[in-house]
Amino acid sequence: MSEITGDLPLDDDTPAGYQWHPVCAVQDADDEEPYFGSAAGRDVMVVRQGARIAVFDDRCPHLGSSMVGATVEAGQVECPLHGACFDASSGTVLDGPTTEDLVCHRVRIVNDRVEVALLHLDEPA
Ligand code: FES
Repeated sequence: MSEITGDLPLDDDTPAGYQWHPVCAVQDADDEEPYFGSAAGRDVMVVRQGARIAVFDDRCPHLGSSMVGATVEAGQVECPLHGACFDASSGTVLDGPTTEDLVCHRVRIVNDRVEVALLHLDEPA
């Protein structure tokens, strides 16, 4: 059985100007359907592929719509509106009516909780 991981497992890896914010429990993230929540007031989409978890803005770059209803299959996330497909790990656009990627955030897992690094606007970066 694989250990659940995010991108950055250590506090020391926090990028300058960023803060970690809780999103959900690891168990909330599903292999077939993204989890939708918020972190520090920002709507986010959590995508799980086995032991790997990625967090993106809940905003399709095609028309700026929510990705609620998206599906995850074969390493791709598909927008429910017009079918744009993105890499489920990086958010890179793979197909569909957009050339822009999903906004992907740094992730860590702490005590079975998914946390995301977001820019802290009150501090200089
Ligand atoms: S809004 Fe996502 S593909 Fe059009």
